Amino acid sequence: MDTSPKQRPVSTDGMEDLILRLSMARGVEEIMALVRQSARSLTGADGVTFVLRDNDKCYYADEDAIAPLWKGQRFPMETCISGWAMNHAEVVVIEDIYKDNRIPHEAYRPTFVKSLAMAPVREEDPVGAIGAYWAKAECPSAEAIHLLQRIAHSTAVAMTNVALINSLAAAKEEAARARDAMILAMASLAETRDTETGNHIRRTQHYVRALAEALKEHEPYSEHFSDDVIDLLYKSAPLHDIGKVGIPDSILLKPGKLEPEEYEVMKTHAELGRTAIAAAERYMGSTTPFLSLAKEIAHTHHEKWNGTGYPQGLRGEDIPIGGRIMAIADVYDALVSERIYKPAMPHDDAVDLILREAGRHFDPGLVNVFATIAPKFREIHRQFADAA
Ligand code: C2E
Ligand code: SIN
Ligand code: SIN
Ligand code: SIN
Ligand code: FE
Ligand code: FE
Repeated sequence: MDTSPKQRPVSTDGMEDLILRLSMARGVEEIMALVRQSARSLTGADGVTFVLRDNDKCYYADEDAIAPLWKGQRFPMETCISGWAMNHAEVVVIEDIYKDNRIPHEAYRPTFVKSLAMAPVREEDPVGAIGAYWAKAECPSAEAIHLLQRIAHSTAVAMTNVALINSLAAAKEEAARARDAMILAMASLAETRDTETGNHIRRTQHYVRALAEALKEHEPYSEHFSDDVIDLLYKSAPLHDIGKVGIPDSILLKPGKLEPEEYEVMKTHAELGRTAIAAAERYMGSTTPFLSLAKEIAHTHHEKWNGTGYPQGLRGEDIPIGGRIMAIADVYDALVSERIYKPAMPHDDAVDLILREAGRHFDPGLVNVFATIAPKFREIHRQFADAA
């Protein structure tokens, strides 16, 4: 509403609302849209622009005005007033643009603009500026300038939030990539030492997931196997034999049967694996669900349901469920594959052996579920077959 011949009244209605919405914005586009939708009516201006710093250029990213301004254009920092506001980190008020030499008059002649106020976004190292423009000279009131500065200040907070959110997301992504690379590096280290190919690692990963997905459909396991848990098991499985890295070649690569004292050394791979992953946790200064599950599986995959396994001789449900699952996957794969110390066994014989070992080597509840999906194990073994 025009109550003054010189300027429209400014309004503080909606300022609180804008500040709140800006504080919750999750992207630069959203911030610009919020400013575009309200800055003009809040300041009583005839036009507003949202300028982003783009290296040595001012990018007129967005605007809301009675007639077009410079949306989509880039100007050198030195020749435009938004650049001046950013370089000096201070608000500029120009009551008559044609009397001010900081203004590139050519760029303004096609526009309605006679006066303006330009506020930098962020006092320290400005990232942009918000301009308000009037079609009459001597227009920006003290109150309009004050409101423009408040908008610029809230915008700065919002831009900083968005930058933080983005860098956190990037850091998270990088951590996930680093973790995946580390697992593969560690697992392949174990693999190159062993005569088993990388396919053993890949297969056990798939058996574990197949078994966990079946458990999800069976009581009393279903509640323990969310998709997240299954994914975690799948990612942890490749590290189960990481401790074999510490076993001497003369034992690990022995073509025949191990002597009892050699077997004792071989058995230390479970504890060595636990120690290696615990060291990774210490270096990280914290653990993750992934590392703690991988550690548990490396440590307990040779425990037996009846308490005769190693390294701790745990019994029954004292053996973590991840170790009990891995035991079935690991032994199935060892049986049906040729090893440097033994020939391959047919699928049906391997399944029979595992069923017979229910309650002795293996958790009988898990074996029951395994029996329902044994053909899937055969399929996985074929899919990732070792080269002949
Ligand atoms: P692996 O080859 O991955 O075997 C994993 C597990 O599968 C074994 O754990 C065992 O429980 C089962 N398994 C493997 N082959 C047979 C088999 O022919 N019959 C039966 N009933 N079960 C089998 P285990 O025994 O604790 O062995 C751990 C690791 O020690 C093995 O991993 C392998 O790397 C090594 N190892 C075991 N025995 C020998 C051997 O006689 N010679 C050599 N060179 N290495 C051996
Ligand atoms: C401005 O100075 O506000 C934009 C126009 C220009 O830089 O030429
Ligand atoms: C679980 O509690 O982890 C599943 C059921 C079981 O322990 O066998
Ligand atoms: C650990 O040892 O810290 C995890 C539990 C286990 O491996 O038995
Ligand atoms: Fe093992
Ligand atoms: Fe293994």
